[in-house]
Amino acid sequence: MKVWRPVSLGCAVALATSLLLARTHPFGDANLHNEANAQPSKMKDTSLPPAVGTLLMTKCADCHSMQTHALVYGRFAPISWLMERDIVEGRKAFNFAQWDAYTADQQQTIAAKIVQETKSHRMPLVQYRIIHWDSNLSNANIQTLVQWSHGMQANASEGPGPAPTGSGDAVRGKEVFERRCNGCHTLTQDREGPRLQGVYGRTSGTVAGFTYSPALKKAGIVWNEATLDKWLSDPDSVAPGNEMDFRVPKPDERRDLIKYLQQSAGQ
Ligand code: HEC
Ligand code: HEC
Repeated sequence: MKVWRPVSLGCAVALATSLLLARTHPFGDANLHNEANAQPSKMKDTSLPPAVGTLLMTKCADCHSMQTHALVYGRFAPISWLMERDIVEGRKAFNFAQWDAYTADQQQTIAAKIVQETKSHRMPLVQYRIIHWDSNLSNANIQTLVQWSHGMQANASEGPGPAPTGSGDAVRGKEVFERRCNGCHTLTQDREGPRLQGVYGRTSGTVAGFTYSPALKKAGIVWNEATLDKWLSDPDSVAPGNEMDFRVPKPDERRDLIKYLQQSAGQ
């Protein structure tokens, strides 16, 4: 018995220290154990369609809303620190508690990113899936998200728009780019999508250092007016299985964007 005493004492001290350390927040404070935070479903009050809201609430809300359910082990450092890091970063990426405060363009970008991240199985994070085995998304779940995202993009177009004549307007194109593409692209830096300066005339999938999908990497298309127009109306019609889940249904917006991309090479 005597041998065990120091061991159990050591365990008790370690446990107490771990509990105490969990009160510190080296990677940010997600306010996990504030009871006032445990408010009833905020996502149910958003304008998300019910099927999508329920899906995202069960699989993603722990890191992308204020409705975090911290399990018992979350009260112990250093696990608490790692959890808090994911939650703070996840909420920063987007937060369903603020869904209705996002502009229509921001909602479309987030929806497209949600499709991108779930199709490629990067989300939910793998460390979360190991513990929450029911958080895996089925193909049917992903289809629900795709339909939701495409529906939003289609609604962004008020009718088919004017016929694609004329040569487009780079100034208007810049405005559309900043509103609709900037969530994933800039001209000079890679984000979720590759940098686009000089994309006009370039072969697809060739920005050094950017990780393309195998589909776009092997497509070997040269980006010109016709191929860009097709890509922006439906990327899957150009390179099936690519990872850009975003469409611009209006022909005049596509034309302006293409003009802007064409001119941006010289900037
Ligand atoms: C365990 C916490 C956790 C869960 C659960 C989780 N995420 Fe995330 N998510 C993060 C973190 C952390 C980031 C930011 C860092 C990154 O992109 O890896 C993030 C970022 C994102 C982004 C933004 C990517 C970007 O670059 O802007 C999307 C989209 C996303 N998550 C979708 C989802 C969806 C959809 C689910 C549920 C199916 C989900 N996440 C579940 C932690 C989580
Ligand atoms: C939700 C994120 C997202 C949005 C929004 C988005 N894109 Fe993309 N884009 C991507 C990703 C990811 C890729 C790479 C796809 C792949 O590897 O399959 C890409 C690739 C491209 C390419 C091919 C580049 C190359 O080097 O071959 C072009 C052109 C492009 N996007 C234009 C646009 C334009 C213009 C807009 C705005 C109307 C836009 N994208 C909006 C994510 C996005």
